[in-house]
Amino acid sequence: MDCKSLLAIATLICIISSGSADSPGARIEITQNGLNYMIEQALPYLKSTLNRINIPDISGKDECDYSLSNINIGDIELPDIQGVTGSGGLTLKGDGIGLSGGLDYSYKCPLWIHGSGNVDLDVTDASLSFTLLVDKDDTGHPVFNPNGCSLDISDIDIKFHGSLSWLANLFKGLIGDKIKSYANDNACSKLLELIQQKGNSFLQDFQTQKAIDDKIVIDYSLITNPIFSSTDLEVDIKGEFTSINPNAVKPPFSPSAIPQASESSKMAYLVASTYLANTAAFVINEEGYLQYNITPDTLPAKAEFLFTTLIFQDLIPAFYNKYPDMNLTLNMYATKPPILKVTPGEARLQGSGIIEFAVYDANCDNAIVHAFSLEVDGSTEVEVGLKQVAGATNVTGKIESLDLEVSILDTEVGTINSTKIKDLIDLIGTNLLVPLVNKYTGVGWPIPIIYGVELQNTEVTLGNDYIMISTDVDYEPQLSQQQKLEDDDSQPVMKRLTSRVQF
Ligand SMILES: *[C@@H]1O[C@H](CO)[C@@H](O)[C@H](O)[C@H]1NC(C)=O
Ligand SMILES: *[C@@H]1O[C@H](CO)[C@@H](O)[C@H](O)[C@H]1NC(C)=O
Ligand SMILES: *[C@@H]1O[C@H](CO)[C@@H](O)[C@H](O)[C@H]1NC(C)=O
Repeated sequence: MDCKSLLAIATLICIISSGSADSPGARIEITQNGLNYMIEQALPYLKSTLNRINIPDISGKDECDYSLSNINIGDIELPDIQGVTGSGGLTLKGDGIGLSGGLDYSYKCPLWIHGSGNVDLDVTDASLSFTLLVDKDDTGHPVFNPNGCSLDISDIDIKFHGSLSWLANLFKGLIGDKIKSYANDNACSKLLELIQQKGNSFLQDFQTQKAIDDKIVIDYSLITNPIFSSTDLEVDIKGEFTSINPNAVKPPFSPSAIPQASESSKMAYLVASTYLANTAAFVINEEGYLQYNITPDTLPAKAEFLFTTLIFQDLIPAFYNKYPDMNLTLNMYATKPPILKVTPGEARLQGSGIIEFAVYDANCDNAIVHAFSLEVDGSTEVEVGLKQVAGATNVTGKIESLDLEVSILDTEVGTINSTKIKDLIDLIGTNLLVPLVNKYTGVGWPIPIIYGVELQNTEVTLGNDYIMISTDVDYEPQLSQQQKLEDDDSQPVMKRLTSRVQF
């Protein structure tokens, strides 16, 4: 194969693979401050892991037969550990590490020269370097991927006690070399084990999917391997709401590019494209939540008798005259999913829908007769906020009022004065729709976290087409698996909007 066709194949693979990768709906950025905090939390584990390095008995034949046994080395003294990031990962570096221990030795040389004793080992200036990448596993969770380790013991102080220790001193170099290489291997395999057990079980607690109710989940799965740069760790996640029904229609839009967080003073930033909110709107609309029905029997007893054609006596006299004091029914539904638009100063929710009025015709067995329908376009400013309860943090929205435009779609009951009907719809908007929207946006959506990590000093900022949450974290690692299960029993929030209305 020539170079040209190889290039063509490489390009093709590149196009196919980049085309099939999802774009992220959100990105988590762990800053240098955040990584330093993580390292600080990991140090006690690191220290207890390295506190006893296992070295097997060593025997061999050089000029003499020798055997080294009961080798112990540990009592580690860790100085400051620095975390350095780069494209190769996060490297933990420590210099001036102290270790101490000892061993028993014996040797047999020609001419019946032999001896035994013990040795004190003292290391004052070892250096450790351990590099980690973070990858994505098959389930969309992050996993550590160790990417290099060395425990470099440059100088080992060996003091012999015992018979003929002057001769034993000849072994110094040999003992030193063996111990250095075993210590390096064992320290590194212990660190590897620590990462694979403790580290990865911690990362497995990243909540990739969170049930919103029995139909809708929010998906925070990783979509690519996280990337370390010289300043941070970037984790691209799906950041979308989906139906649990695999055959559900997918949103016909995709996320816009997520900008880099513009600050780095906090430990972590979550930059969520408006895609996240808009997939929520899309799914709840698809699932039929954005429809609302009022019939006399859905109203509280006190209000039942109010919901009759009497309310149209002045508004649409012909309607009232044709069906005097008869019960009404109202059917309201979104004609398309609401859309959230975010700019640096403002978040605005836009929606449109249809309101249909019908009457129970008392002269005709209470048959439901269509009266008229209205088309309503609305928009409102959303105050984006945060709600923190027991360590969990939700991003919430609150609206005060609705700007509505009303037009008459059809009428079976004569001319309708659009100015007057607008007043009625405004009333419905303020008293019914505003509390209804707030009921759901007030619950909000949970920020993705690792179990046991609490967010502190959390703030929200609006940007061009994104919402940014900046936060510090606090990690309390002692929670048991059982507590986790009990806590995670999250309650379904979104009920059908056709439930009973309270005025
Ligand atoms: C209107 O609805 C109420 C409550 O369901 C009912 O008690 C009443 O009889 C209805 N009125 C007519 C005229 O059907
Ligand atoms: C509609 O009602 C308003 C008062 O609410 C009135 O000023 C206007 O003249 C009415 N329009 C028509 C066409 O009757
Ligand atoms: C946060 O949102 C989730 C999902 O909507 C909900 O289950 C939970 O109750 C909310 N938390 C709070 C404190 O409102």
